[in-house]
Amino acid sequence: MIPQEYIASFAFDQRLAPYDILGSIAHVKMLARCRILRRLDAKKIIHGLQSIQKDLDQGWKIPWAEDIHFAIENELVKRIGETGKKMHTARSRNDQVVLDVKLYLKDQSRLINGAIAGLQKSLLDRAVEHKNTLMPGMTHLQHGQPIFFAHHLLAYAWMFERDRERFKDAARRCDSNPLGACALAGTALPIDRAYTAKLLGFDRVTENAMDTVSDRDFMCEFNFNCALSMIHLSRLAEDLVIWSSQEFQFVRLAEEHTSGSSIMPQKRNPDTAELLRGKTGRAIGNLVQMLTLLKNLPLSYNRDLQEDKVSLFDSVDVTLISLQLAADIINKIAVNKAKMAESCQSGFLTATELADYLAGKGVPFRKAHSIISKMVDDVTRNSGTGGSLGSLSLTELKTYSPLFTEEAKARLSSVQAALSKNSPGGTGKNAIARQIQALKNALKK
Ligand code: ARG
Repeated sequence: MIPQEYIASFAFDQRLAPYDILGSIAHVKMLARCRILRRLDAKKIIHGLQSIQKDLDQGWKIPWAEDIHFAIENELVKRIGETGKKMHTARSRNDQVVLDVKLYLKDQSRLINGAIAGLQKSLLDRAVEHKNTLMPGMTHLQHGQPIFFAHHLLAYAWMFERDRERFKDAARRCDSNPLGACALAGTALPIDRAYTAKLLGFDRVTENAMDTVSDRDFMCEFNFNCALSMIHLSRLAEDLVIWSSQEFQFVRLAEEHTSGSSIMPQKRNPDTAELLRGKTGRAIGNLVQMLTLLKNLPLSYNRDLQEDKVSLFDSVDVTLISLQLAADIINKIAVNKAKMAESCQSGFLTATELADYLAGKGVPFRKAHSIISKMVDDVTRNSGTGGSLGSLSLTELKTYSPLFTEEAKARLSSVQAALSKNSPGGTGKNAIARQIQALKNALKK
C-alpha cells in the first residue's frame, strides 16, 4: 500500500497556487476567444477562480489533493459545478506545471535581483565611507599589498553584479509560454498560444511541445545561480569571520548578528556569517539534486520531475533571505580603522613598491624582485617578522642597489603605495572614484 503522500506534491507545490490560477484564467479566456468554450462558461470559471484566490489571500487553506492543480480544479468544481470540468480542455498538468514554475521564477528573479541590488548598495555605501581606510590586501591569506577597504568591499559588489546579470539572463529562459503544449503532442483544437502568452506577459511561445514538458533547464539555471550567489555570500561571510576574529579585529559584527557561548562568557560568535557559509551547502546540494534528476531521463514528462520543486524552492528561499541578511550585516559592521592601519605596518606590504621602483630605473623586474626578496630575508633575520623595510637607512638601501634614492624611501609609505594604484580597476584614489561611479551606473539599470 503506497501512502498518498508519497505520490503527492501538495505538501510543497502550494506556493504555485496564485500562478496556477492566473494561468487558468488566461487559458480560459483564450478558449472562449477561440470559441472552444462558451463565453458564459468562461465567465463562470473565471469568477470561480477569482473567488478561490480571494479566499487564499485571506488565509483560507485549500483542501488536500494530489497536487495544487487538482486541488484548484476540485475546488472550482465544488464552487461552480460541472462547468468547472471544462477548464482543463486543451491542456495537461504537464504544460500547466511548467507554466506555474516559469511564472513563479519570473517573479522570484525580480525579488532576488532586488535583494542583490540591496546588498550591492550596502557595499557601495560602506565603500564610499571607507575610501581612505587603509588595510592589508591579501593573497594566500598573507599580506600582499596595501589597499583601501573600499576596494575590498567593491570587489564583492562587482561579484554580485555578475549574479544580477545571471538572474536576468535566466529569467529570459523562463519567458516562453509552455501552455498549449498539452501532454506532449499539442492539440487538434484551434487554440491560440500567442494570445495566452500575451495575457500572461510571456515574450514568446515554446517551439516544441515535447521539449516544453520535458525542459527543466530553466530550473537548473536558477538553481545554479542561487548556488553561485550563495558561494559568493559564503566568501564574504568567511572574510567577515576572519576579520572579526581576535587575531584580526578589523571589524565587529553588530550585537544582533552575533551570539554568545553557553559556557564561555566572553564570546561573541559571528553566527550569522557562519550560517551564510553553512547554508551554502544546501544550495549546492539542491543544484546537484536537480541535475541528477534530469540525467538519463527519457522524453518527455516523467513523474521524477515532480521532485524538481523541493530543491528549487529551498534554494530560492535560502538565497533570498541570505542576501537580505548579508546586506544588514554589512550595513551594521563596526570598522576598526586603527587596527587595519596598524596591520599594514607588518608583513612587508610595500616590498613590491621597491621592486617597482627599481624596475622603473631600468632593472629587469625579475632581477628587482630577487634584490628586494633578499632585502626582506635580511630584515626578517635581523628583526623577526615584525621588521620593516622602512627601518633601513638610505645607506643600507644602497648596499642592495646604488639606484636607491630618498624617493625610494618615500615609496615605502603604505598610504602612498595604495593611493598610487590608479590603473583602471586599481585601489588608487582616482581608480576607486571611477569604480564607484561605474557601480552607481550599473545599479541604475
Ligand atoms: N504534480 C506534478 C508535478 O509536479 C504535476 C504534473 C503531473 N503530470 C502527470 N503526468 N502526472 O510534476
